Amino acid sequence: MTGEAAATLVNKITTNHTYFMREANHFYYFRDKVLPYLSEKVKQKDLRIWSAGCSSGEEPYTLAMIIDEFLGKEKLLWDTKVLATDISAKVLEQASSGIYLNEEVGTLPPQWRLNYFTRIDNQKSIIVDRLRNEVIYRKLNLMERNFPFRKLFHVIFCRNVMIYFDTQTKRQLVQKFYNSLEPGGYLFVGHSESLNPEETSFKYVIPAVYRKEQ
Ligand SMILES: C[S@@+](CC[C@H](N)C(=O)[O-])C[C@H]1O[C@@H](n2cnc3c(N)ncnc32)[C@H](O)[C@@H]1O
Repeated sequence: MTGEAAATLVNKITTNHTYFMREANHFYYFRDKVLPYLSEKVKQKDLRIWSAGCSSGEEPYTLAMIIDEFLGKEKLLWDTKVLATDISAKVLEQASSGIYLNEEVGTLPPQWRLNYFTRIDNQKSIIVDRLRNEVIYRKLNLMERNFPFRKLFHVIFCRNVMIYFDTQTKRQLVQKFYNSLEPGGYLFVGHSESLNPEETSFKYVIPAVYRKEQ
């Protein structure tokens, strides 16, 4: 199979369904508990958040909007880039364009629509450059033996991705996430992807949210 044919196949077989504020209670927990903790704890003011399996970008942009709103004017003092990775080149292209249907954008709070989107026409809107530049997109297969990151993350979102993986692959991936997190760091998974407490060092926090010990 040629590289191009393989890429087409990957784009076809992966399910990319996603939307802004999906599984909203995770984002509220991130805003109300995780960010207050990190804003005190991260003395270097370099927040490292990873959306793994980001699909067309709604998840990392939601995180970027929440961070922007939480830090307000203080944001100038912070480096808060969200890393967003996926195996599919097609969704990454879509995500980095920052263009979404008005129908989808219309589900967001008016303040967010005003601050973070510009209307293109009757059908589409685009994320403003200031926010778009806060998300860095990279292609990455989570099955790779080692992740290519030099620094540890404070938070990893990997939601609705592991449902496609067998038990062993999932266990190995969860261990790699554990090794990629700072002590006290958080892992968010999809609501149907809970971790087996006997197979992981992560501590359960709330449904589908786990934490590495401090
Ligand atoms: C259903 S979407 C989830 C999007 C978002 N995280 C959410 O919860 O709404 C699953 C994404 O996982 C990606 N994916 C599947 N297998 C992957 C792998 N081995 N490495 C990286 N991404 C993968 C797919 O391309 C797809 O975009």
